[in-house]
Amino acid sequence: MLASLSRRASASSVRLSRVAAPVAVGACRSLSAFPAPRLFDYETVTRNLTVADAIESVEKAFGALAKGHVDVPMPMHIGIEESAIAGPGDCHIKGGYVAATPTFTVKLACVSFYKNKAKGLPPGSGIFIVVNAITGAPLGIFQENRFMTDLRTGAAGAVAMKHCSSATQDVVGFIGCGAIARNMARGAAAVRPFKGVAYAIEGAEAFAKEMQAELGMPFTVAPSAQALCGESDVIFTQTPGGKTVLEKSWLNPKGVTIIASGSDQPTKQEIPNDVLAASKYISDLTKQTSKVGELRAALGAGVMQLSDVHAELGEVVNGTKKGREGSEIIVVDLTGTGAQDAAIGQVAWDKLSKL
Ligand SMILES: NC(=O)c1ccc[n+]([C@@H]2O[C@H](COP(=O)([O-])OP(=O)(O)OC[C@H]3O[C@@H](n4cnc5c(N)ncnc54)[C@H](O)[C@@H]3O)[C@@H](O)[C@H]2O)c1
Repeated sequence: MLASLSRRASASSVRLSRVAAPVAVGACRSLSAFPAPRLFDYETVTRNLTVADAIESVEKAFGALAKGHVDVPMPMHIGIEESAIAGPGDCHIKGGYVAATPTFTVKLACVSFYKNKAKGLPPGSGIFIVVNAITGAPLGIFQENRFMTDLRTGAAGAVAMKHCSSATQDVVGFIGCGAIARNMARGAAAVRPFKGVAYAIEGAEAFAKEMQAELGMPFTVAPSAQALCGESDVIFTQTPGGKTVLEKSWLNPKGVTIIASGSDQPTKQEIPNDVLAASKYISDLTKQTSKVGELRAALGAGVMQLSDVHAELGEVVNGTKKGREGSEIIVVDLTGTGAQDAAIGQVAWDKLSKL
């Protein structure tokens, strides 16, 4: 009797499960089937990610970019007009996908919300959204408030130094000593040991002291940009780009690699036109540097043509174009690409999702 009940029960559960199966499949198809994206707050992001984490991934992303294997759509901008209840402010949305990687990234950066100051808040904030490239489901939201952008910029500086300077170029100057300079110094330190030289309108002393303690390499402060150029083999420039920061006659005649990242808008220029014209010029992405980078200014002044571009950085990474060959002036023009954003998004997900 019990046996026959249990047989009937199991037969009915088989029937039930057969009946239930389509319901279960239907449930999987419901819009609630994706797990909620994980939220990583600013503290978690800043405590667990470094420039060094990003370098390899950003290097591969540049290689893929040069082969046309990265989808980087045009950025989107939302202007928040000032009114009694809003703004003023700007929201920039960018994204990218490096082919054959498991995630893609959308980045939302809010800047110039100047009224925040009265509320004791900074004028900018931002998130990265990292999305599963198989299912299209958002995996993680990273509250980074520009931290991940600064990391991927420092990682690009490291890639530029690795591929466009020689091992003997070990005096590294930093013109402009703010947030980007700190990430450039961390990136450079991952390439080779160096003697650092700092110059800025403000903050060079604090930068030199902090970087020397953090990186365990000697840093000095130069009395002028000219003095810095005279002794540097590699020069990172990361000023707001309101005016040019060096002159051709100041540069080391044994050869110099200038890695310029301050110009990322059509109004900016850090490197003079005669230096650009005399250089072996390498862009992160020529279609972008021709609009917002140092190249824009040189093209506008008629001292360079697009045909004067020696290479994109990814071509040098891939070995299809050469980096340093002798005592030439090399300028690497970094404006920041969606490929770097996609790379740092992948790194952040890989590392932080395991916490
Ligand atoms: N290329 C990229 O991917 C990328 C990414 C992020 C930011 N940026 C750009 O990098 C630049 C620097 O950003 P940040 O956050 O480090 O700024 P910051 O304000 O933290 O630091 C700027 C530094 O430059 C110095 N400076 C200003 N004008 C100078 C001049 N003429 N000569 C010497 N020093 C000068 C300042 O004193 C300060 O030390 C900005 O223009 C920013 O838009 C570029």
